[in-house]
Amino acid sequence: MLSKNMQDALNKQVLMEAQSSQAYLAMASWADIQPGLKGVTKFFYRHSEEERMHMLKLISYINERGGFAIIPALAQPTLTFVSLKQAFEELFKHEVKVSESINGLVDIALTEKDYATHNFLQWYVNEQIEEERLARECNDKLELIGEDKSGLYLFDRDIITMGIEGGGKGKH
Ligand code: FEO
Repeated sequence: MLSKNMQDALNKQVLMEAQSSQAYLAMASWADIQPGLKGVTKFFYRHSEEERMHMLKLISYINERGGFAIIPALAQPTLTFVSLKQAFEELFKHEVKVSESINGLVDIALTEKDYATHNFLQWYVNEQIEEERLARECNDKLELIGEDKSGLYLFDRDIITMGIEGGGKGKH
Protein backbone atom coordinates (compact mmCIF):
# COMPACT_ATOMS: atom_id res chain seq x y z
CA MET A 1 0.00 0.00 0.00
CA LEU A 2 1.28 3.44 -0.92
CA SER A 3 1.47 6.16 1.71
CA LYS A 4 -0.52 9.30 0.97
CA ASN A 5 2.73 11.21 0.64
CA MET A 6 4.21 8.69 -1.84
CA GLN A 7 0.97 8.57 -3.80
CA ASP A 8 0.80 12.37 -4.11
CA ALA A 9 4.43 12.50 -5.25
CA LEU A 10 3.85 9.79 -7.86
CA ASN A 11 0.76 11.62 -9.10
CA LYS A 12 2.89 14.76 -9.53
CA GLN A 13 5.17 12.65 -11.70
CA VAL A 14 2.14 11.53 -13.75
CA LEU A 15 1.54 15.23 -14.45
CA MET A 16 5.19 15.81 -15.34
CA GLU A 17 5.28 12.91 -17.81
CA ALA A 18 1.99 14.08 -19.36
CA GLN A 19 3.41 17.59 -19.72
CA SER A 20 6.55 16.15 -21.29
CA SER A 21 4.44 14.27 -23.80
CA GLN A 22 2.51 17.45 -24.66
CA ALA A 23 5.67 19.54 -24.91
CA TYR A 24 7.28 17.09 -27.36
CA LEU A 25 4.06 16.78 -29.30
CA ALA A 26 4.12 20.56 -29.77
CA MET A 27 7.75 20.32 -30.91
CA ALA A 28 6.73 17.62 -33.39
CA SER A 29 3.95 19.74 -34.83
CA TRP A 30 6.29 22.75 -35.12
CA ALA A 31 9.00 20.65 -36.79
CA ASP A 32 6.40 19.19 -39.14
CA ILE A 33 5.77 22.58 -40.75
CA GLN A 34 9.48 23.47 -41.10
CA PRO A 35 11.06 22.65 -44.47
CA GLY A 36 13.20 19.50 -44.53
CA LEU A 37 12.79 18.32 -40.95
CA LYS A 38 10.87 15.09 -41.48
CA GLY A 39 13.35 13.04 -39.44
CA VAL A 40 13.25 15.46 -36.53
CA THR A 41 9.45 15.48 -36.74
CA LYS A 42 9.37 11.71 -36.43
CA PHE A 43 11.82 11.84 -33.53
CA PHE A 44 9.64 14.30 -31.58
CA TYR A 45 6.45 12.34 -32.25
CA ARG A 46 8.14 9.17 -31.07
CA HIS A 47 9.51 10.94 -28.01
CA SER A 48 6.07 12.26 -27.16
CA GLU A 49 4.68 8.74 -27.39
CA GLU A 50 7.43 7.44 -25.08
CA GLU A 51 6.55 10.05 -22.47
CA ARG A 52 2.95 8.91 -22.64
CA MET A 53 4.19 5.37 -21.93
CA HIS A 54 6.12 6.70 -18.92
CA MET A 55 2.90 8.26 -17.68
CA LEU A 56 0.84 5.11 -18.25
CA LYS A 57 3.39 3.00 -16.39
CA LEU A 58 3.05 5.28 -13.36
CA ILE A 59 -0.75 5.27 -13.52
CA SER A 60 -0.81 1.53 -13.61
CA TYR A 61 1.65 1.25 -10.67
CA ILE A 62 -0.22 3.73 -8.44
CA ASN A 63 -3.52 1.89 -8.94
CA GLU A 64 -1.91 -1.52 -8.55
CA ARG A 65 -0.54 -0.48 -5.13
CA GLY A 66 -3.95 0.54 -3.80
CA GLY A 67 -3.72 4.21 -4.68
CA PHE A 68 -5.66 6.31 -7.16
CA ALA A 69 -3.89 7.75 -10.19
CA ILE A 70 -5.12 11.24 -11.02
CA ILE A 71 -5.39 12.16 -14.70
CA PRO A 72 -4.25 15.79 -14.73
CA ALA A 73 -5.30 18.91 -16.63
CA LEU A 74 -2.50 20.19 -18.82
CA ALA A 75 -1.23 23.68 -19.58
CA GLN A 76 -0.57 24.58 -23.19
CA PRO A 77 3.06 23.89 -24.03
CA THR A 78 5.41 26.18 -26.00
CA LEU A 79 4.18 26.05 -29.58
CA THR A 80 6.91 27.70 -31.64
CA PHE A 81 10.70 27.89 -31.49
CA VAL A 82 13.17 30.31 -33.02
CA SER A 83 15.37 27.43 -34.14
CA LEU A 84 15.82 23.69 -33.95
CA LYS A 85 18.67 24.33 -31.54
CA GLN A 86 16.34 26.18 -29.20
CA ALA A 87 13.83 23.30 -29.28
CA PHE A 88 16.55 20.80 -28.36
CA GLU A 89 17.91 23.05 -25.62
CA GLU A 90 14.41 23.16 -24.12
CA LEU A 91 14.18 19.38 -24.42
CA PHE A 92 17.49 18.92 -22.58
CA LYS A 93 16.55 21.35 -19.79
CA HIS A 94 13.24 19.59 -19.42
CA GLU A 95 14.87 16.16 -19.14
CA VAL A 96 17.24 17.43 -16.43
CA LYS A 97 14.18 18.60 -14.47
CA VAL A 98 12.54 15.20 -14.93
CA SER A 99 15.68 13.49 -13.62
CA GLU A 100 15.65 15.75 -10.54
CA SER A 101 12.02 14.91 -9.99
CA ILE A 102 12.68 11.16 -10.25
CA ASN A 103 15.53 11.54 -7.76
CA GLY A 104 13.10 13.27 -5.40
CA LEU A 105 10.73 10.30 -5.68
CA VAL A 106 13.58 7.88 -4.92
CA ASP A 107 14.41 9.96 -1.82
CA ILE A 108 10.82 9.71 -0.58
CA ALA A 109 10.69 5.96 -1.26
CA LEU A 110 13.90 5.44 0.73
CA THR A 111 12.81 7.68 3.60
CA GLU A 112 9.54 5.76 3.87
CA LYS A 113 11.28 2.40 3.43
CA ASP A 114 8.92 1.76 0.50
CA TYR A 115 11.22 -0.69 -1.26
CA ALA A 116 8.63 -1.76 -3.83
CA THR A 117 8.34 1.82 -5.08
CA HIS A 118 12.10 2.22 -4.87
CA ASN A 119 12.44 -0.85 -7.06
CA PHE A 120 9.78 0.40 -9.49
CA LEU A 121 11.57 3.75 -9.81
CA GLN A 122 14.86 2.19 -10.88
CA TRP A 123 13.45 1.81 -14.40
CA TYR A 124 12.95 5.61 -14.49
CA VAL A 125 16.40 6.28 -13.06
CA ASN A 126 17.95 4.27 -15.90
CA GLU A 127 15.63 5.76 -18.49
CA GLN A 128 16.68 9.28 -17.45
CA ILE A 129 20.36 8.45 -17.96
CA GLU A 130 19.49 7.52 -21.53
CA GLU A 131 17.16 10.50 -22.08
CA GLU A 132 19.75 13.01 -20.89
CA ARG A 133 22.49 11.36 -22.94
CA LEU A 134 20.38 11.50 -26.09
CA ALA A 135 19.35 15.13 -25.54
CA ARG A 136 22.97 16.14 -24.84
CA GLU A 137 24.16 14.32 -27.97
CA CYS A 138 21.59 16.14 -30.12
CA ASN A 139 22.60 19.51 -28.64
CA ASP A 140 26.30 18.81 -29.20
CA LYS A 141 25.66 17.85 -32.83
CA LEU A 142 23.57 20.98 -33.47
CA GLU A 143 26.30 23.11 -31.90
CA LEU A 144 28.82 21.62 -34.35
CA ILE A 145 26.47 21.99 -37.32
CA GLY A 146 25.75 25.68 -36.69
CA GLU A 147 24.33 27.17 -39.90
CA ASP A 148 25.67 24.40 -42.16
CA LYS A 149 22.73 23.17 -44.22
CA SER A 150 24.32 19.91 -45.33
CA GLY A 151 25.09 19.13 -41.68
CA LEU A 152 21.47 19.76 -40.81
CA TYR A 153 20.39 17.49 -43.66
CA LEU A 154 22.50 14.66 -42.21
CA PHE A 155 21.27 15.38 -38.67
CA ASP A 156 17.66 15.10 -39.86
CA ARG A 157 18.46 11.84 -41.62
CA ASP A 158 20.36 10.28 -38.71
CA ILE A 159 18.08 11.32 -35.86
CA ILE A 160 15.45 8.78 -36.95
CA THR A 161 17.63 5.97 -35.62
CA MET A 162 19.17 7.87 -32.68
CA GLY A 163 18.11 6.43 -29.35
CA ILE A 164 16.68 3.30 -30.94
CA GLU A 165 19.87 1.26 -30.91
CA GLY A 166 20.78 2.80 -27.50
CA GLY A 167 19.84 1.32 -24.12
CA GLY A 168 16.41 2.15 -22.70
CA LYS A 169 14.47 3.28 -25.77
CA GLY A 170 11.49 1.36 -26.93
CA LYS A 171 11.67 -1.07 -24.02
CA HIS A 172 8.53 -0.33 -22.12
FE1 FEO B 1 9.75 10.55 -19.09
FE2 FEO B 1 11.74 12.17 -20.72
O1 FEO B 1 11.02 11.82 -19.07
